[in-house]
Amino acid sequence: MTRSDVWRSVWNERDDDRADWNGYEATMPAAEYERFTAATADLVRRRLGLGPDDVVGDLGCGTGRIAAHLAPHVAAVHGFDYSETVLRVARERRDLPNVEYHWADLNDLTFEPHGLTQAFSVGGFLYLDSERTAVDLIRRLHVAGIGVAVLDIPDSSLVDTRERAYDRSVYSHLAMDAGRLAAAFPGAGIHRDELGLDYANAGVRFNFYLPVS
Ligand SMILES: C[S@@+](CC[C@H](N)C(=O)[O-])C[C@H]1O[C@@H](n2cnc3c(N)ncnc32)[C@H](O)[C@@H]1O
Repeated sequence: MTRSDVWRSVWNERDDDRADWNGYEATMPAAEYERFTAATADLVRRRLGLGPDDVVGDLGCGTGRIAAHLAPHVAAVHGFDYSETVLRVARERRDLPNVEYHWADLNDLTFEPHGLTQAFSVGGFLYLDSERTAVDLIRRLHVAGIGVAVLDIPDSSLVDTRERAYDRSVYSHLAMDAGRLAAAFPGAGIHRDELGLDYANAGVRFNFYLPVS
């Protein structure tokens, strides 16, 4: 089984209510999760400078919580995910006129970009096959003139017991080198702990932004 197969089955083998936690069930109580999602969506909106003409890609959209927050502020949101389970829950619970959900594997760089002007991923890139795949995906978006925001990337230079607590053998997350990622993309910004909320992983993860050049 490849790393991708393992994670794909993790995201598919959940009942609908657990799926709707999008993997955050171990990190915060329900009320905080709502606040976290709203704050994260606001951060994405601010960092990408989203406006009413933007067509926004949500890469690893899960059950569409962030897509639903952004939808009123933009022309359209396209959510992409490789879990049929989360896509079904998204379509049932967050069916909005300007949001579409698509099956796509982000490891496969040929996925259809649907006229995106901006794209983001929250907690999605840590499940990719490799840092190389992440770089290639960012590059493909950037070259197509799409602004990119990738949030919640585990930092490979930070060894922290909180991050290790999530590393249950095959469940190890893909950590990336923030400096190397920034160096690969002149103009990119790396930011840490931006939400100001008591999010368990904040101390060991970073956010990456690459505006349209
Ligand atoms: C931690 S959840 C985050 C969901 C959503 N972004 C949020 O913050 O609410 C990660 C999501 O990324 C998706 N994902 C992971 N690897 C993927 C891949 N290679 N292609 C598409 N989706 C992927 C998972 O299925 C899961 O829904």
